Amino acid sequence: MLIIRGANVSDASRIAEIYVHAMSINPFLIFEFPTPASRKELIHLLTERTVDELETNPDSVLVGQDSNGNGEIVGFLKWTLYECSNVGKSGGDPAPAVSEFHAKYLSETAAAREKHMRDHSFIHLNYLATSPEAQNQGVARSLIGRITDIASTRQIPVYLEATMNAVKLYEKFGWKEIENIHVLIPEKKGEPATKDYEEKCMVWHPLEAQAIN
Ligand SMILES: CC(C)(COP(=O)(O)OP(=O)(O)OC[C@H]1O[C@@H](n2cnc3c(N)ncnc32)[C@H](O)[C@@H]1OP(=O)(O)O)[C@@H](O)C(=O)NCCC(=O)NCCS
Repeated sequence: MLIIRGANVSDASRIAEIYVHAMSINPFLIFEFPTPASRKELIHLLTERTVDELETNPDSVLVGQDSNGNGEIVGFLKWTLYECSNVGKSGGDPAPAVSEFHAKYLSETAAAREKHMRDHSFIHLNYLATSPEAQNQGVARSLIGRITDIASTRQIPVYLEATMNAVKLYEKFGWKEIENIHVLIPEKKGEPATKDYEEKCMVWHPLEAQAIN
């Protein structure tokens, strides 16, 4: 059985590990962290970052835990509540900006968020991942259901930047595309930036969506 609960600081390294393993298909991560050693370092950085996030806002991370097996965490979701008054504040991206291309990505996503959500209170779904061996078993569905319950109670939308592999999943649960993000990245470090990395900004409104469970 899957239990959805708030994360503890002791879960941080497992959350970082799931992030890096699940994202090993992502072209941006492959470009920025091409070697096993660099990905190990990324797990270390993300563990520290998750600890900081949990110390600042203990409600900001949900985990899915498999209570049948060894109780392992199999997925997580990070979120931030933006009240109208703090939309301009930074934060919310799970990976630190490690290159000029990542800095460009962060500035594009911040501009889109500002453009579409400036006048709203909303939940920013910062990140969602299921460990590769636990995918296609409903873990993301349960985590998404919990966050949309929180949004429904508050009557506010849930905004996110979807990686292209996840767009259909979000559409299935009622998210609508509102803008594309494009950043040119190199295939490999030191090469010219010729590869179009794309994500979609999407929004879910409680009044337009069916309950997810
Ligand atoms: C995307 C991801 C979170 C899905 O997690 P998951 O736990 O395997 O998803 P679920 O099993 O809960 O799937 C829920 C539903 O979405 C569907 N779905 C899942 N991944 C999908 C995909 N890539 N494309 C289309 N549909 C998908 C499932 O078929 C399922 O539908 P059903 O309930 O009708 O059978 C997981 O593949 C992942 O971690 N990917 C890498 C990280 C990532 O891309 N995160 C999103 C960044 S915005």
